[in-house]
Amino acid sequence: MSHKKFDPSRAEKLIAAERYQELKPDIILQKLGIRSGNTILDLGCGNGFFTFPAAVAMGEGMVIAADMSDDMLSLLRQRNTPDNIQILQVEEVKMDIEDDSVDAAVLIAVYHEFKNPMENLAELKRTLKPGGKMLILDWDPQADKERGPGKAHRVAKIQAIKDLKAAGFTVASHENYTLDMWMIVAHSNT
Ligand SMILES: C[S@@+](CC[C@H](N)C(=O)[O-])C[C@H]1O[C@@H](n2cnc3c(N)ncnc32)[C@H](O)[C@@H]1O
Repeated sequence: MSHKKFDPSRAEKLIAAERYQELKPDIILQKLGIRSGNTILDLGCGNGFFTFPAAVAMGEGMVIAADMSDDMLSLLRQRNTPDNIQILQVEEVKMDIEDDSVDAAVLIAVYHEFKNPMENLAELKRTLKPGGKMLILDWDPQADKERGPGKAHRVAKIQAIKDLKAAGFTVASHENYTLDMWMIVAHSNT
């Protein structure tokens, strides 16, 4: 598997209105079933495509906006984040987040960039509360390549499901969410 990282000079495309219309953060929030007061981790948050709608939906809760890229996090900071967004720079795997502290994690267009997804899944499992939810949305290698990362850089949904099961997650649902992106909702085994 490949793990090419996103080029920050293309970040504006991530927060384009058409992407909001297509990926529908409200539906993603519904699928996560989070409530006001929860803590949600947006891993590989980039310049905040999902971070901002999540912060509004969370009310009293907190969104941890985590990314390893200095450049992406400075673009996020320039957008004047509200108080319930905590910006966190993480390493390729290690995150400075307490054990069993996160209610739900979201990974949008990030999974294919991990160098060793099993290590990231173990780190996510450590930070999620037992039973905590995780939603992964990523590029389908079988879809026509009209945009997004090259096919060699994409991860098949079936591979991600295998990874999740091996890492101690139960897959609750999986679907082809758009013409070229799949979605998996899983929860951390207790
Ligand atoms: C294609 S962008 C997607 C950003 C955002 N999730 C969105 O959908 O708009 C991928 C992001 O994942 C980040 N990333 C890649 N590998 C990472 C890792 N191991 N830990 C944290 N962030 C990572 C990149 O820096 C980049 O900001």
